[in-house]
Amino acid sequence: MTGTTGTTDTAAGIENKVIAITGASSGIGEATALYLAAKGARLVLGARRKDRLTGVVDRITAAGGTAIGVVVDVTRRADLKHLTDTAIDRFGRLDVLVSNAGTMAVSPFDDLRQDDWDAMVSTHITGLLNGIAAALPVFRGQRSGQFVNVGSTAAYVVKSPQAVYAATKTAVKVITEGLRQESGPDLRVTLISPGFTNTEGVGKGGSPEAAAALTRRRDEIAMPPAAVASAIGYAIEQPAGVDVGEIVVRPTMQD
Ligand SMILES: NC(=O)c1ccc[n+]([C@@H]2O[C@H](COP(=O)([O-])OP(=O)(O)OC[C@H]3O[C@@H](n4cnc5c(N)ncnc54)[C@H](OP(=O)(O)O)[C@@H]3O)[C@@H](O)[C@H]2O)c1
Repeated sequence: MTGTTGTTDTAAGIENKVIAITGASSGIGEATALYLAAKGARLVLGARRKDRLTGVVDRITAAGGTAIGVVVDVTRRADLKHLTDTAIDRFGRLDVLVSNAGTMAVSPFDDLRQDDWDAMVSTHITGLLNGIAAALPVFRGQRSGQFVNVGSTAAYVVKSPQAVYAATKTAVKVITEGLRQESGPDLRVTLISPGFTNTEGVGKGGSPEAAAALTRRRDEIAMPPAAVASAIGYAIEQPAGVDVGEIVVRPTMQD
């Protein structure tokens, strides 16, 4: 189907869209890659762990899908540029950038885990901005494109000891809204705000006490990452002129 700009990207749906996803080696990013691949998207997947990324790419290609893995650290500008360049080189365009990479290394302030604070700031804020800088000129040149940014319900309800995490996810929300306002008629900008999701990232890093409490809670109430993947798919499959601003998706058990 041909869209108004004469390209194939502006049609509704997911099939054939070229979609880059950061943090695709596990959890929500992995589930989103599998979901979108099954719907016929052509994927460029980024993360730091090459072995895990290769595993996701292999599963997709074995099932008849199309995916390329690129080792990416989102805190590095050049890596995001390499991710978007790969999409252009291999597929001739980029329709969607899903900025999902993240770390939930939470802890009380008294623990002074400054490296974890820095990692959350650089991954969620600098990493998101690096993605915007890499994809925005591509989208402007194409006169189409969609940013899908993964925030968190932590941006709405601050719970101790998650303040730094919540602050960085609040920044994701604010950046996304500002970007939407500047995006103009051709681009789409979506915030996906998941609640507790059953991934390996919950309880990873951070203080051992906080990690244990989060992991316990995850095992009691968390929803599967596929629930977030289908929300992302919903935002992507809308027609070109329809911009899904935000989807909040959380387990019914979450307060
Ligand atoms: N699980 C939840 O309850 C929940 C709720 C709300 C929002 N979220 C958000 O959802 C996103 C995905 O988290 P998840 O739950 O799926 O956890 P996860 O399984 O740990 O996934 C995190 C992903 O981000 C990647 N990543 C981390 N730092 C990176 C960096 N500097 N550069 C590139 N990739 C990086 C990881 O891959 P590598 O280690 O291989 O780089 C991994 O693929 C995060 O932004 C998180 O904040 C999660």
